[in-house]
Amino acid sequence: MTNIKACLFDLDGVIVDTAVYHFQAWRRLANELGFDFTEHQNEQLKGISRMESLELILNWGNVSLTEAEKVEWATRKNDWYLDLVKLMTPNEVLPGVAKFLTDLREAGIKIALGSASKNSKLILERIQMLDYFDAIIDGNNITKGKPDPQVFLMGAEATNALPSECVVFEDAVAGVQAAKAGGMKAIGVGSADVLTEADLVITTFEEMTLERLNF
Ligand code: G6P
Ligand code: MG
Repeated sequence: MTNIKACLFDLDGVIVDTAVYHFQAWRRLANELGFDFTEHQNEQLKGISRMESLELILNWGNVSLTEAEKVEWATRKNDWYLDLVKLMTPNEVLPGVAKFLTDLREAGIKIALGSASKNSKLILERIQMLDYFDAIIDGNNITKGKPDPQVFLMGAEATNALPSECVVFEDAVAGVQAAKAGGMKAIGVGSADVLTEADLVITTFEEMTLERLNF
């Protein structure tokens, strides 16, 4: 038995690897503005909202834009990103995710999305995973981005769970920090060298079982 009532999932980099599409689209923006950035720098953009990501990238390139220009470039980036998202198929759901979500459902554990993305419903539709989620909290609902815990606290509330009854799955440093700040357990998806604040790190959901929720 477990005292866990809800599992809260980040989307990008956890359910599906849209992080690579974000990277491609941001890189195109940087290149068109006359500079480049590395995959290592891209790590800092994970879990960070569109406008905050733009600010960071412009800083790296020493480019200053007016507020109106920033909105234009962010929209352009999102259009390039959506062109890639539109090509996505259910085959892109990361290994082990569908099986683990099915196990959670069968065990009566609620499932919520906690993502900074404003495109999350579109992506879940593309990969045909919308039906797994009892609640979706995303960039359209929140006022404070990760590492603020707001997105996950709203997910806990929407699934009638206390923070101590929730486990968060995150691939981003800021996301793990958000979970911990909300008083939740955090399972990192990715590298233990990067996700040092997570309670447990898995490489893929193929390693994940209901038993491993108890630690
Ligand atoms: C996720 C990603 C970020 C992205 C953010 C906003 O948190 O990890 O890289 O910037 O969502 O996504 P959006 O789809 O609204 O631009
Ligand atoms: Mg992520």
